[in-house]
Amino acid sequence: MGGVQKKNQQSQEIHAWHRRVIRALITLLLIFYPSLPSSFATDSITPTQSIKDANTILSPDENFALGFFIPPNSTNRYIGIWYNKIPEQKVVWVANRQNPLTNSSGVFTINSNGDLVLLDKQNNTVWFALNASTQIRNSRAKLLDTGNLVLLEDGEKRYLWQSFEHPSDTFLSTMKLGESKRLRSWKSLSDPSIGSFSTGVNVAGNLKQTFIWYNSTPHWRSGPWNGRTFTGISSTDSEYFNGFQLVRGDLEGNASGGTYDYFRDSFDSRFELGPSGKLQQVRWDEEKKKYRAVWSAPQVECDLYGGCERRRQLDCYNDTTGWSVYFEDKVLQPPVHVDRFLKMKMMKLPDLGEVIDGVDGKGCKYQCFIRCDCVAYAFVGRIGCMVWSGYLMDIQQFSSGGEELYIRLPLPQNSESFPLLLP
Ligand SMILES: *[C@@H]1O[C@H](CO)[C@@H](O)[C@H](O)[C@H]1NC(C)=O
Ligand SMILES: *[C@@H]1O[C@H](CO)[C@@H](O)[C@H](O)[C@H]1NC(C)=O
Ligand SMILES: *[C@@H]1O[C@H](CO)[C@@H](O)[C@H](O)[C@H]1NC(C)=O
Ligand SMILES: *[C@@H]1O[C@H](CO)[C@@H](O)[C@H](O)[C@H]1NC(C)=O
Ligand SMILES: *[C@@H]1O[C@H](CO)[C@@H](O)[C@H](O)[C@H]1NC(C)=O
Ligand SMILES: *[C@@H]1O[C@H](CO)[C@@H](O)[C@H](O)[C@H]1NC(C)=O
Repeated sequence: MGGVQKKNQQSQEIHAWHRRVIRALITLLLIFYPSLPSSFATDSITPTQSIKDANTILSPDENFALGFFIPPNSTNRYIGIWYNKIPEQKVVWVANRQNPLTNSSGVFTINSNGDLVLLDKQNNTVWFALNASTQIRNSRAKLLDTGNLVLLEDGEKRYLWQSFEHPSDTFLSTMKLGESKRLRSWKSLSDPSIGSFSTGVNVAGNLKQTFIWYNSTPHWRSGPWNGRTFTGISSTDSEYFNGFQLVRGDLEGNASGGTYDYFRDSFDSRFELGPSGKLQQVRWDEEKKKYRAVWSAPQVECDLYGGCERRRQLDCYNDTTGWSVYFEDKVLQPPVHVDRFLKMKMMKLPDLGEVIDGVDGKGCKYQCFIRCDCVAYAFVGRIGCMVWSGYLMDIQQFSSGGEELYIRLPLPQNSESFPLLLP
């Protein structure tokens, strides 16, 4: 018994001695290597803890890193955020995308006003978060597990500034996009400055649609959101959109309808707008150790905004006689002498539609009929009645999925050939 106790005591002493030696070694290392070139064991930037050249900070779960990076085939330096655990560096956010540094003397720090800034060697401010003119006391910048870089006043929960409010070309889970808050493409893979393409959510005629714009011209359109999915994304892709949400309101609880929210759970999936205007959902393939695009748009030329247009004018017969019988379910067809509608299946619904509230499918047809300029209607669950006037802009027929679209036809005696061509 006594021998065993003594042995235990001895081994405890040896363990304690080991611990002391290790602690002393670490202290020595810290004294002789005050600026270890890899990462601080921190997630924050403070006035005394800045980022210089090769330093990085990590999010608490170590999924994201922030520091200086040099794009491929470039000599410019930028502050960026990238995935820390994935070997192939993919930058998801860039601070000074319009103002690169040309050498390694930059410092990313908190200045005397408490603002988050990037300084060059002469202490000129190359980039700032707030351009604060009044003093923020004890502020610090923190990299969160979501990849969001936030600026906080000490002891406060509210963010004074956050990178998620100023997206680059990448959409991460819990970020929000709207009409003005857009992803903006890089100029090229070696140049993160703002390129020609942007993507965001537009709300018009009570319909919500995702767009890719080329400068201010539409380049691609998702079709209207029906509460569950974008109707113009063909259903073969829809499995990737499970868990995709569009939520009203922004971080300040602003429900004015301008800001919407895509939402996905997995940190290694992202949406990225490439320099040539392609929006991709990208995942890391752990087996192949490569990024893989699981969805992209536009895919084929026919996806580009414009699609097909109907330009033929309709004659307007504003004669409602006969409709009451139709509405009373006494006849199956609306009156023969009025315009007919052609049902087209699996359609990407046209742009520039208008929602008419409080009518059913039949009422929707009637609403289109009594408007002389109505050229088509659709009745879609969760959205209801939609009508289009003038041109039918950007329609497309899918091989599966899509919606039913009723296109108004000229009177039989006037019709020559069917005036609509589809790809
Ligand atoms: C960098 O330059 C090399 C050689 O010119 C080229 O093959 C490569 O595609 C370039 N990479 C990027 C990202 O531009
Ligand atoms: C770093 O670049 C700046 C201009 O961006 C220049 O003024 C400065 O002299 C450069 N420093 C070094 C060490 O090259
Ligand atoms: C820049 O600011 C730092 C810290 O305040 C100071 O030590 C340094 O001398 C300044 N450099 C220049 C060129 O003004
Ligand atoms: C930053 O603030 C200063 C002083 O208030 C102002 O003169 C300057 O125009 C601001 N810069 C930007 C880019 O807003
Ligand atoms: C809500 O957002 C809109 C558009 O960004 C803005 O014009 C409006 O002032 C905001 N309203 C509130 C209460 O913040
Ligand atoms: C068509 O007739 C209906 C019913 O009389 C009327 O409400 C509507 O304004 C007319 N539309 C046009 C374009 O004249």
